[in-house]
Amino acid sequence: MHVFVTGGTGRIGSAVVAELLGNGHTVLALARSDASALVAEAAGAETLRGDLADLNVLRVGAAQADGVIHLAFANDFSSADAFAQAVAEESAALAALGQELLGSGRPFVTVSGTPHVPGRVSTEADPVSTEGLTGGRGRAVMAVLDLASRGVRSSTVRMPRTVHNEGKGGFAGMLTEIARRTRVSGFPGDGTQRWPAVHALDAAVLFRLALELAPAGTAWHAVADEGDAVRDIAAVIGRRLELPVQTVPQETYGPLGPIFAADQPSSSTHTRKTLGWEPTHAGLLEDLENVQP
Ligand SMILES: NC(=O)c1ccc[n+]([C@@H]2O[C@H](COP(=O)([O-])OP(=O)(O)OC[C@H]3O[C@@H](n4cnc5c(N)ncnc54)[C@H](OP(=O)(O)O)[C@@H]3O)[C@@H](O)[C@H]2O)c1
Repeated sequence: MHVFVTGGTGRIGSAVVAELLGNGHTVLALARSDASALVAEAAGAETLRGDLADLNVLRVGAAQADGVIHLAFANDFSSADAFAQAVAEESAALAALGQELLGSGRPFVTVSGTPHVPGRVSTEADPVSTEGLTGGRGRAVMAVLDLASRGVRSSTVRMPRTVHNEGKGGFAGMLTEIARRTRVSGFPGDGTQRWPAVHALDAAVLFRLALELAPAGTAWHAVADEGDAVRDIAAVIGRRLELPVQTVPQETYGPLGPIFAADQPSSSTHTRKTLGWEPTHAGLLEDLENVQP
């Protein structure tokens, strides 16, 4: 397939582009700068210059592709307002891409997050949250899945809290950055809360499988580690950075504080059984050994 990819230069997207190119597909990558275009072209993709806010460019990209994978996101957690603006931009982009694919039967794979279900491990059958800080992203993804009834083979690949590669990325990556800055490897609460995780190279395989195989309107979990205790994550980071490991106030994490404090394990049993996905790369605690002082 000729696949239009947004976010193809990111941590996950660059792995997805490589996975697609290595498995007989070709890629048209959205690139918002010269630097991003160079990265995507060096990986072997064609590029289409534009930003997520350039809805006409997105329509042009989707129109010339056999399928679309969407991963671009501003990831601006600096304030609740900045995050809301990033969500609004992404929601408009998803609507424009979906509109272009109506009635075509072509695959449209978008990224999402594993749900948090208090008291138990979440599964692919649980809905994503449409409330709170990230609720707008949930609503946009639900709208994409609803396109199943309008001739789009829409699906979503849900990411765990940490998608890592060479010890970097996701919530664990944020803990590392904060530890470097504050000289403490901290965690909120008692640290027994669990976060699921996956290696970016394993997540990339699942995006390809969803593109190739997922029935319309379906959700999949890219979960390799069902849940690593946050104090265990902080312990590896502290040891690697030679810093003390201790609980810190939830407010340290700004708008993400309540999310960082929650126990949110997640399973991928259905995904593995149905799509034959099997992660093969390092788990999070092993990959964090790559963190350099
Ligand atoms: N990493 C994780 O642990 C994790 C966990 C859960 C969910 N996710 C989700 O997975 C997706 C990809 O994550 P990631 O870790 O790969 O992100 P990333 O490394 O920050 O990459 C973001 C990608 O989006 C592009 N992008 C950002 N804003 C854009 C805009 N306005 N217009 C066009 N392109 C734009 C970036 O392009 P440039 O190269 O030009 O900057 C880059 O290719 C995001 O939706 C993220 O929320 C990630």
